[in-house]
Amino acid sequence: MIKTAVDALTGKAGAAPPETFPRITPKIDSVETKPMSSPRLKDRAKDKNPWIIAHRGYRARYPENTLIAFEAAVDVEVDMIELDVMLSKDRKMVVIHDADLGRTTNGRGTVGSHTLEEIKQLDAGSWFDARFARERLPTLEEVLELVNGRIALNIEIKRSAYEPHHPPDAVERQVVDLVRRKGGMDSVLVSSFEWRALENMVKMVDRPAIALLSRYPDEDHHLETCRKLGAFSWHPSYLAVKEEHVREMHDAGMLVFPYNADTPEDIQHMLNMGVDGVITSDPLLMKELIKPV
Ligand code: G3P
Ligand code: CA
Repeated sequence: MIKTAVDALTGKAGAAPPETFPRITPKIDSVETKPMSSPRLKDRAKDKNPWIIAHRGYRARYPENTLIAFEAAVDVEVDMIELDVMLSKDRKMVVIHDADLGRTTNGRGTVGSHTLEEIKQLDAGSWFDARFARERLPTLEEVLELVNGRIALNIEIKRSAYEPHHPPDAVERQVVDLVRRKGGMDSVLVSSFEWRALENMVKMVDRPAIALLSRYPDEDHHLETCRKLGAFSWHPSYLAVKEEHVREMHDAGMLVFPYNADTPEDIQHMLNMGVDGVITSDPLLMKELIKPV
């Protein structure tokens, strides 16, 4: 069931939308580092019900990659939240999909040419609906604090954040360090289209599970690369994935989570192929679809 705060915002349950949304208070400051393992992801993998993975949060109804979109995804009890990470000019991890600020904020220019302090001034909600004018682009740390291990997180490292010279504070290092510091290693999955970032990550001894993103499965070497990296899962485009790919990955012991199927037909088509879950912008729609009758 969707809970009250979200109902109020969407105007459901007869409630008038509030003018502003109450700020979400992070619940923890720090948790001890845990050894590398992903028991929670692995536990969920034993359950054969399809994973509902909220793409950029509950993107169909909330401004993507904002705390309110993530909290709404938690409210509808998804299995995992997917989000995107970039680096600001001062090398802080900011949660945003585009390299450019223009589509989802009132800012201009690139994320990488602004400091976090500057980025934090931006309105990241009005483009979606005036009710969300107070939303800000969150840092990855803020999202970890908000979610606080309640559900799994799929952190996508954007291609443009990758640096081939691999500096000490490369984004993939920062992600691992943050998850170590904050805890919840066992419920974090890091994915990327930039496979070199994942290659760097697997060399680290205490790290989250990884997933390979793949846009053109017939042209890449995803199976071989997934095997080599010991990936937890493979995330292909729903437009390109075929049943034979799904079978191959299952035979290799990996899960398959296609992105981004958003209509009932597309989600159902993926499920008919035997995928293990779907990355979707409308998690409630998927929930209704897979509900036992
Ligand atoms: O992580 C799956 C999916 O989000 C990848 O595509 O462009 O939505 O980040 P994109
Ligand atoms: Ca993404």
